[in-house]
Amino acid sequence: MSTLTFNIARASADPAKSKTRCAIVAVFGNELSATAEALDSAGTLRAALKLGDFKGKPGETQLLPGIGNADRVMLLGCGERAKFNPAVARETVQGLSTALNACSTTEALLHAADLLNDDVEGAWLLELVARTITVGSYRYTRTLSKPKDPLALKKLAVNPGKGLSSQQAQAALDQGAALGRGINYTRELGNLPGNICTPTYLASEARKLSRGNSKVRTQVLEEKKMRELGMGSLLSVSAGSDEPAKLIVIEYRGGKSGSAPQVLVGKGITFDSGGISIKPGAKMDEMKYDMCGAASVLGTLQAVIDMALPLNVTGIIAAAENMPSGRATKPGDVVKSMSGTTIEILNTDAEGRLVLCDALTFARRLKPAAVIDIATLTGACVVALGSHASAVYANNDALAEQLLQAGTVTHDRGWRMPLWEDYRKQLNSNFADLANIGGPEGGSITAACFLAAFAEGYPWAHLDIAGSAWNSAPKGATGRPVAMLTRYLQDRAAG
Ligand code: BES
Ligand code: MN
Ligand code: ZN
Repeated sequence: MSTLTFNIARASADPAKSKTRCAIVAVFGNELSATAEALDSAGTLRAALKLGDFKGKPGETQLLPGIGNADRVMLLGCGERAKFNPAVARETVQGLSTALNACSTTEALLHAADLLNDDVEGAWLLELVARTITVGSYRYTRTLSKPKDPLALKKLAVNPGKGLSSQQAQAALDQGAALGRGINYTRELGNLPGNICTPTYLASEARKLSRGNSKVRTQVLEEKKMRELGMGSLLSVSAGSDEPAKLIVIEYRGGKSGSAPQVLVGKGITFDSGGISIKPGAKMDEMKYDMCGAASVLGTLQAVIDMALPLNVTGIIAAAENMPSGRATKPGDVVKSMSGTTIEILNTDAEGRLVLCDALTFARRLKPAAVIDIATLTGACVVALGSHASAVYANNDALAEQLLQAGTVTHDRGWRMPLWEDYRKQLNSNFADLANIGGPEGGSITAACFLAAFAEGYPWAHLDIAGSAWNSAPKGATGRPVAMLTRYLQDRAAG
């Protein structure tokens, strides 16, 4: 795991006096920032710009020999000064992260004040820097016999300028780093193969979150207990697997005792073969990622615990493996959910909704302020929205708005989708209260309508992250939507 630290360093008026292995200064096109100007008493930066190799585009960088007490200088392109806004800032910081990954310096000092203007606010920028560089430092190594080169950088100092107190600036860096670590944890769990990351493994990870922390409690419900609770729908998914299902409940009590919890429910299918309705072979390996909803719940909780948010948050993970066997559920089987609603399973590959519906019924017992489920639920969602947006469904407009807003601020964006009765009718069955599939049209929507039937009576949102949770080329989990969820919870904690 990364041991990157971020801290505030107030530089003196003369930046050449600040001792660092790498001074990072902004350049807007061919225009030096105030700090770059102040550092350039001998005119070497100006001379470098004159050569025209470095254009100062957003995220472009160039390393130059040191000046004064700085061993090196890194020019950081920010594009035209008048056009510098949050989107350009993201591109710039992404470029900085890439450059630091390629550089052998163990320490650097970022002069951040030059990057602030009316649109780009100090705390937001520092959070972005710490998050982006932390996320950029992640390497998957767990199942490699020869680990890849780790990041050389150990410490990034940031000179925040005048706008923020040192305490505010450090808090922003800490929050960004905590979010980055939460995102990386989610990526790591997603990337682990299905033969390591089983439901039992997810349960042991959840227990780690509560170890040594009196504010966190983890409970794991075994299949026997789930049977007693009547979770026939969830258990129908694990029926064909040798891996027992687990219902994992993690309670973080950072808020007032008795105040209603924010509840996150994660789909934790540790491998989705499709079951008897078995999937075709192409890209079936990617169904190890079918627990990315669960991983986002663990990553978000880790960030929330790390930030010590004054809020009660409960994570529920419905973990199971979907496999064919002589004991597996068959198309046409009818099961009874914990809510009493009967379900005709017309396709065993529509298993996410079957585990989530019982988790949503269980969530009602917690008297939640709101419930948000997160699931790699449908291939149809990938067709509808691609990889750039998570689908947002909600039975409550305020909750939907809060999630969309959190997604915009963190650039982990969602897009609202409908839950109309017209779509729900596609789930009618002759043999049960509900069918588990709604036909080829609007597949992400009918899946959400299925879940909505179990989330009555409390504010509920559903995030279909089938397109956003992982990339296929190069393959890797993205850690989405941890940024959206964490920001949503930070906003609730702020009241
Ligand atoms: N985990 C899949 C959804 C999925 C597929 C996500 C591909 C990302 C990429 C889910 O369990 C599933 O198989 N859904 C089916 C539903 C269908 C049978 C109604 C699907 O999308 O094909
Ligand atoms: Mn499936
Ligand atoms: Zn699935």
